[in-house]
Amino acid sequence: MTAEIINGKDLSTELKLEMKAEVEALKEKGLIPHLTVVLIGNNPASKSYVKGKEKAAAETGISSSIVELPASTTETELLQLIQELNEDTSVHGILVQLPLPEQIREKKVIEAIHPDKDVDGFHPINIGKMMAGEDTFLPCTPYGIITMLKSKNIKIEGKHAVVIGRSNIVGKPVGQLLLNENATVTYCHSRTKNLQELAANADILIAAIGRAHAITADYIKEGAVVIDVGINRLENGSLTGDVDFESAKEKASYITPVPRGVGPMTITMLLKNTIKAAKGLSNIEG
Ligand code: GUN
Repeated sequence: MTAEIINGKDLSTELKLEMKAEVEALKEKGLIPHLTVVLIGNNPASKSYVKGKEKAAAETGISSSIVELPASTTETELLQLIQELNEDTSVHGILVQLPLPEQIREKKVIEAIHPDKDVDGFHPINIGKMMAGEDTFLPCTPYGIITMLKSKNIKIEGKHAVVIGRSNIVGKPVGQLLLNENATVTYCHSRTKNLQELAANADILIAAIGRAHAITADYIKEGAVVIDVGINRLENGSLTGDVDFESAKEKASYITPVPRGVGPMTITMLLKNTIKAAKGLSNIEG
C-alpha cells in the first residue's frame, strides 16, 4: 500500500480562506479579533514560530501584536503584563511563547492568563473542560491533528490510537481528544517497555517523540494512519519528522509529511481559537 498524504499546508490554506470570510463578517459587526503574542528572549525557533503566527494572522485579517521582552524579564514583570492584557478589552487572545527563561515559572504564567483569552488551551480550567468533553479552547497541535483526520473522513471511533509522547502540549491532550472521539487510546513514552509492539498494533499512530526518523516501517501496521508531530532539524539544516517517511508511506494508508504536515495546522488552529475568543468575549454569534 502507498499512503495518501494528508497535506497540512493545503488544508491550512483552505481553513484560512474560510476564516478570512468569517473575520470580514465580524468586522462588519464592529469586532476585530486581536491576538497578542508575548515573546521573551532570543530563542531562534521561538522567534520563527512567532513570525509565522503574525503572518498567518495577517492572511486571515486577524489583527495581532507581538510584545518582545528581554531574556532577563522577571516573573513579576511578565505576570503584570498578562494582567494588563487580561484587562485590555481590545485583546481577545493571549499567547506566551514557550519555553520561558528559567527564572520564570511556566505554571504561574499559564495560570495567570484569563481562561477566556487562553487561545493555547493550556489553562487548567480549559484542560479540565477538554477532559470533560465540554466546549473550550483546544490545544492547537492536537486540535490540528483531529482536524486533519476529519478532513479525510478517517474514522476514529472504535479505532486503536497509539500516542508516542506524553507532553502537556501534544501527547496528553491529543490522546484525550482521540478518546473524546471514542478511540481506544494507548500512551507510550520513554519508560514504555514494548514500544514497537504497541505501535505496530495502532490503527492511528501519533508520533510526538522529538527524535528524527525514530519510527520506521517496523513500528507501523499495514494500513495504519500515521501522524508525525516531530519537527527535527538535521545537521544540514533541513527539517524532518519523527517518522521515517519513505519507508512508512509504503505501509500506511494515510500519512502526514514534515514539513507541510501538522506544523502549519498548529498555527491555523490558533487563529480559529482567536476568532472563538473574540466571539466569546463580545457575545457575537458567528
Ligand atoms: N512552544 C512550542 N509550541 C507551543 C505552543 O503550542 N504554544 C506556546 N505558547 N508555546 C509553544
